[in-house]
Amino acid sequence: MTKERVLEALRNRQDQYVSGAALAESLHVSRTAVWKAVEQLRREGYPIESLPRMGHRLSSRSDVLSEFGIRQYLSDPGIRVQVFDSITSTNTVLKQMAAEDAPEGTALVAAEQTAGRGRMGRSFYSPKGSGLYLSLLLRPERTPRESTRLTACAAVAVAEAMEEIAKVSPEIKWVNDLLVRGKKVCGILTEAGLDFETGRMSYVIVGIGINLRRPERDFPEELRGIAGPAFGSREIPDVRNRLAAGVLNRLMKYARDPEADSIWQKYRDRLMVLGKQVLVLSPGQEPVQATALDLERDYALRVRLANGEEQILRSGEISIRVPEAADGNLRKRT
Ligand code: BTN
Repeated sequence: MTKERVLEALRNRQDQYVSGAALAESLHVSRTAVWKAVEQLRREGYPIESLPRMGHRLSSRSDVLSEFGIRQYLSDPGIRVQVFDSITSTNTVLKQMAAEDAPEGTALVAAEQTAGRGRMGRSFYSPKGSGLYLSLLLRPERTPRESTRLTACAAVAVAEAMEEIAKVSPEIKWVNDLLVRGKKVCGILTEAGLDFETGRMSYVIVGIGINLRRPERDFPEELRGIAGPAFGSREIPDVRNRLAAGVLNRLMKYARDPEADSIWQKYRDRLMVLGKQVLVLSPGQEPVQATALDLERDYALRVRLANGEEQILRSGEISIRVPEAADGNLRKRT
């Protein structure tokens, strides 16, 4: 498509003017076709300036989330991305698609969710313009308990993708939150569908919500001091497309071999709770104080309770609170 080729040409010479004639010649299309493509890109939100005698210039501050934009950075041919300006929940919609036999590698990416979901039935604050919300469909031959490993793969994938793009060092709060400077910047919700005949999972959906910048009117009061923007106030060119692709490339790769020791090690290296006091939160029970001792091979957390007893915590219904960190975008359902 001319539009995509014009965009690519402008991206290659970002922040510089390229004349319509030069674009037309290099792409073997008419100048009118170039002009139409530029107009269309501008309507889609790309910051393109056009000046007579100078041509067109794409600002490096461009951050337009698009399928084409993400595809440029994808290295795994098995990933099929669909992008939405707004969606109810990427996990919910992908679940319906999984039931209709969508293949492994189907990914939904959105700029906004109107009914974003978090763990334990809570809602996930997912406003437009400040976050990235995505879900990847996997079809591993595994038992449900092993889906925790995929959550761990996702945590490592997101942390590494962030690090590559912006040199931040996210820490992991067991089991599924990423923190930067003590604030939650990412939450992960892994959901599985069961095949009752085999007891294995027929699909797993890994949903990832990332806070990139502070929302225009700040986080709602109950999330202030808890959730934070991954990259502070820095503006990173094309950040959402790059981050979405960086996460998906890694997650597909790690998911294929989740037993790989290096993932466990990478996950443990980023775990911020080891040796710290935590509060163990089980539904319907009083929070219990404990010390986080170590990570088991299956990603369970070994803790010592105040009475000296050791306990193995598995994700699912149990979560922990670390005094200096908390639960990010999560809100109780009303
Ligand atoms: C949590 O922190 O409890 C997990 C939050 C997971 C949010 C992501 S955003 C993309 C995907 N779609 C959803 O509705 N939820 C997940």
